[in-house]
Amino acid sequence: MHDPAAILAMAARTLDFGQPVAFIMLGILQFVVDYQRSLDVVRRLLAAAPSGSYLAIDVPASDMDPATLEAVRAWNRVGSAKIAARSYAEVAGYFEKLEVLEPGVVMMNDWRPAPGSPAGVRARVGGRRPQAMINSIGSCWSTSGRSDPA
Ligand SMILES: C[S@@+](CC[C@H](N)C(=O)[O-])C[C@H]1O[C@@H](n2cnc3c(N)ncnc32)[C@H](O)[C@@H]1O
Repeated sequence: MHDPAAILAMAARTLDFGQPVAFIMLGILQFVVDYQRSLDVVRRLLAAAPSGSYLAIDVPASDMDPATLEAVRAWNRVGSAKIAARSYAEVAGYFEKLEVLEPGVVMMNDWRPAPGSPAGVRARVGGRRPQAMINSIGSCWSTSGRSDPA
């Protein structure tokens, strides 16, 4: 996660980066604890992708539910790899310069729930504690064919 060049090199063994690709970063970006570094990882990955590619992210939210921060702190007390929760604005930052698909940056259970599933229900870990995760999917829009990594 901290080495986007290595990720891209390995992915290029099976993916054609001349065609749109999808970066599905679910439950992993929080392991890059420094926000600016995580932003840099995302931007470097996007820079390798042509227009029409997709980016999906979910991370624990720092400003939606106090229980999530408790869960993050609990994880960091025992987990060997530390994690960070991110604010709504920080998550939106990952999608800067991308065309964000509806419904935008929302709690994960609110992102296009399957028909019949109760809307607005928060994810539950272990069936007990409500958790707030925020996620969204953005599409690269760069007309030059490459998104700007800067
Ligand atoms: C919540 S899971 C998400 C799994 C992911 N959605 C997938 O489909 O593979 C977090 C993952 O991050 C991995 N991980 C956490 N820290 C890591 C690190 N420093 N290096 C490599 N993998 C790491 C864990 O092994 C685990 O597979």
